[in-house]
Amino acid sequence: MEIIHVSAECYPVAKAGGLGDVVGALPKYQCQSGHIAKVVMPMYRTKFLYENEWTVDFKGSANLGNWFFDFTIIKESTNKLGFDLFLVDINGLLDRQKIYGYDDDSERFTAFQIAVVSWMSSWEHQPDVVHCHDHHCGLIPFMMRYCYDFTRLNLVPSVFTIHNAQYQGWMGWDKSRYIPRWDLWKRGMLEWADSINPLASAVKCASKVTTVSHSYMDELRFNSNGLEKLFEYEKGKCLGILNGIDNDVWDPATDKYLTEHFTVTEVTKGKQKNKEALCIQFGLDPEKPLFVFIGRLVGEKAAEILPDAIKSAIYSTKEQASFLILGSGDTAVEWQFQQMVEPYKGIFNAVIGYDETLSHKMYAGADFLLMPSRVEPCGLNQMYAMRYGTVPIVRSTGGLQDTVVDMGDTDGFGIRFNNATIFDVDYSIGRAVAVYQDKDQMQKMRQYMMQIDHSWESTVDEYTKVYESIQ
Ligand code: ADP
Ligand code: GLC
Repeated sequence: MEIIHVSAECYPVAKAGGLGDVVGALPKYQCQSGHIAKVVMPMYRTKFLYENEWTVDFKGSANLGNWFFDFTIIKESTNKLGFDLFLVDINGLLDRQKIYGYDDDSERFTAFQIAVVSWMSSWEHQPDVVHCHDHHCGLIPFMMRYCYDFTRLNLVPSVFTIHNAQYQGWMGWDKSRYIPRWDLWKRGMLEWADSINPLASAVKCASKVTTVSHSYMDELRFNSNGLEKLFEYEKGKCLGILNGIDNDVWDPATDKYLTEHFTVTEVTKGKQKNKEALCIQFGLDPEKPLFVFIGRLVGEKAAEILPDAIKSAIYSTKEQASFLILGSGDTAVEWQFQQMVEPYKGIFNAVIGYDETLSHKMYAGADFLLMPSRVEPCGLNQMYAMRYGTVPIVRSTGGLQDTVVDMGDTDGFGIRFNNATIFDVDYSIGRAVAVYQDKDQMQKMRQYMMQIDHSWESTVDEYTKVYESIQ
């Protein structure tokens, strides 16, 4: 099948979180299993852009309301990522340093989607499926069905995958003029709660809707930032497919970001060497269990409870643990972490920012990974941690609930708790410090979880079945 993935992120081209990882991996494994999967995304000013060879695939023009724009679609020349990669260049709109966070993001991503749909409708053939990811591509199923200029795509099936329903891309009705000539009777297919809601529109218009774990699919009907009724109504076409991880990129035996590699047989020694290197770099004690947090410092991740939870755990464990944070986001939380570095020197350290290399070193060198998330559609961090023999400490929600088994249960290897509170995090750290003393148990848990199969190879077929069901 020919599958066109449309996304705002794709690792290693541009990544802000797990969406990038998924779109950088799923198409590669789809191609390996015999499909023709392609990715189209905006052309940002990234390192990847400047370091690779490109050919021009298409030149076109379109309107965003009254604004006429030209766009160019370039293709990476060497199939470096294992699939065809196309970037949409719209001068002045997409060619910026960051992926998101600009005042004109609605204009940027609407223009991107118009360019993608115009490009696809110029083809002589039609793809078997257009697979859109998150709200930045949420208007595409609507445009394919109800815009007069794209009638060629009316019958092409579309799949919409929700990686995060907290962000929906809301736009006021004044921006409806951006959408190319459309059937005004279909206004309801764009709308939710009096505004244009690209995520809701995609749920209504796509042939099938998936999200990235089974539990999150269930949760959306009760907690989806205002869309609960929509998910209840559309549940017939919605299903959860747990994300995989890219075992080529995330392998402690070959990881290009690590200097000390290890396999399941020498996990204890291998992790200790990685931990020592980290502890030297960050002034921590390698004899104590090392707890890390890697991620966006936002409410969904319950990042704001971590500073106090860590202080509390430092006290309750009598300083028998070390902590290292890597993340950025909410400036108040960043500030709190920075304020802790000096008073807790030798026990706590934090790097505020985004650092791919350091994240790999932390998965490899840590003993425990903290994920107190309030909302976690899937979560890749806990799966990376498991592959690197790091025990995940997670709140029981979404994909965390689907992938982590508490060490108190049969075949358990992780630590789960119910509430995103200081008490639950502190208590769980206490459980971790206690089990850390039992070297045999730690080794058993590490070896067990390193061998759990979360590869994309085993997941690709689930998407194929979805595509087949809508042909
Ligand atoms: P989300 O997409 O909600 O942020 P996921 O768990 O799905 O959460 O994926 C997060 C991805 O982003 C992982 O690959 C993680 O290692 C990476 N990541 C998050 N924050 C940082 C950071 N500050 N530096 C490096 N990598 C990060
Ligand atoms: C989102 C979710 C995260 C998920 C990722 C990839 O960013 O917050 O839980 O793992 O997408 O699907």
